[in-house]
Amino acid sequence: MSIQSNAASVVFDNVSKIYGTDIVAVDQVSFSIEAGTLVTLLGPSGCGKTTTLRMIAGLEMTNGGRIIIGDDDVTTLPATDRDVSMVFQSYALFPHMTVGENVAYGLTVGNTDKDEVHSKAMDGLKLVGLDGYSERLPSELSGGQQQRVAVARALVLEPQVLLFDEPLSNLDAKLRRKVREEIRDIQQNLGLTVVYVTHDQEEALAISDRIIVMKNAVIAQEGSPRDLYEAPVDYFVADFIGNANLLETEITSITNGDASVRIGSLELMLPSRGMSAGVAHVAIRPESVMLSRDMASSGLDGLIAKATYLGSHMEYTVTTQMGELFVIDKDVISPMAEKISVKINLSDRGVTLVST
Ligand SMILES: Nc1ncnc2c1ncn2[C@@H]1O[C@H](COP(=O)(O)OP(=O)(O)OP(=O)(O)O)[C@@H](O)[C@H]1O
Ligand SMILES: [Mg+2]
Repeated sequence: MSIQSNAASVVFDNVSKIYGTDIVAVDQVSFSIEAGTLVTLLGPSGCGKTTTLRMIAGLEMTNGGRIIIGDDDVTTLPATDRDVSMVFQSYALFPHMTVGENVAYGLTVGNTDKDEVHSKAMDGLKLVGLDGYSERLPSELSGGQQQRVAVARALVLEPQVLLFDEPLSNLDAKLRRKVREEIRDIQQNLGLTVVYVTHDQEEALAISDRIIVMKNAVIAQEGSPRDLYEAPVDYFVADFIGNANLLETEITSITNGDASVRIGSLELMLPSRGMSAGVAHVAIRPESVMLSRDMASSGLDGLIAKATYLGSHMEYTVTTQMGELFVIDKDVISPMAEKISVKINLSDRGVTLVST
């Protein structure tokens, strides 16, 4: 295999981007991406993900702060002098060139030897499972295959950093899963540094070493997929990564970092996460709510307002004195009927004190 990894780290130090006079797209953001890892920027539309990628690529210049790739401060370097390649949502293949020519294009612009260009292009196509497709035109490929050509074209440049901006959003759900697994495999096998933008939380959980959740031009939380799912700092992150029910609760006391929390008639012990006694909010994962038909058991009272069969699980909307709860239950054999009363308890996992 002739394709190498030149993976480098990426550091943002207080970086800002302001469009025009007052559109703050990225607001004093700092993060550090280790070489050879895949980090996802995740967040709602307009939060600054693409702008962040474009600043790494040098397609946008910063209005403050520093960007460091590997050992080099690249803050003022133009895109052409940075060793970064980007894969776009729209693939952006040249329609009149064959697949092989598309993949080789970036190498022919430089002064790479002809045989080496050919061998790298063939290796690139092999990596994405498209050997044998080199003579076809992009129009003779499916959407997923075209996207894989775009990935190969970026890979053969052996960039220090490979950027993906929502690369799978034009594909259907099954193909999205397949291509995302391929991207992750290639990234791990070659040890590439990848910065990946998506607003699909499941995609982010599935492929990332770390996730940076953005909200309104700043970082809401950064961590491993597990950190973010199990210990979201606030309701925004809890609800963006997976779903969460938000309930108002009362912390009655705190002992050695453990909070006694009262939710209606339920008493729980939860990590206090720096909060003090008084009114607080708790985020509850839908799969952490346990429903029982046994009205003699303890628990919060609820009424099944809506029951939906989804094949692999049931979804319920349950009304309680604390508000509505969204519940996911694996039991599809004996589901709860609508309008029946239930007792509600919470499992140990997936219940977290959060700020709002
Ligand atoms: N060229 C531009 N000129 C002016 N404003 C811009 C420009 N590009 C982006 N913006 C604004 O900057 C903010 C961040 O945009 P950005 O494209 O980074 O968002 P995003 O997180 O990638 O969103 P999406 O998920 O919709 O792609 C938005 O408010 C957007 O309207
Ligand atoms: Mg975008």
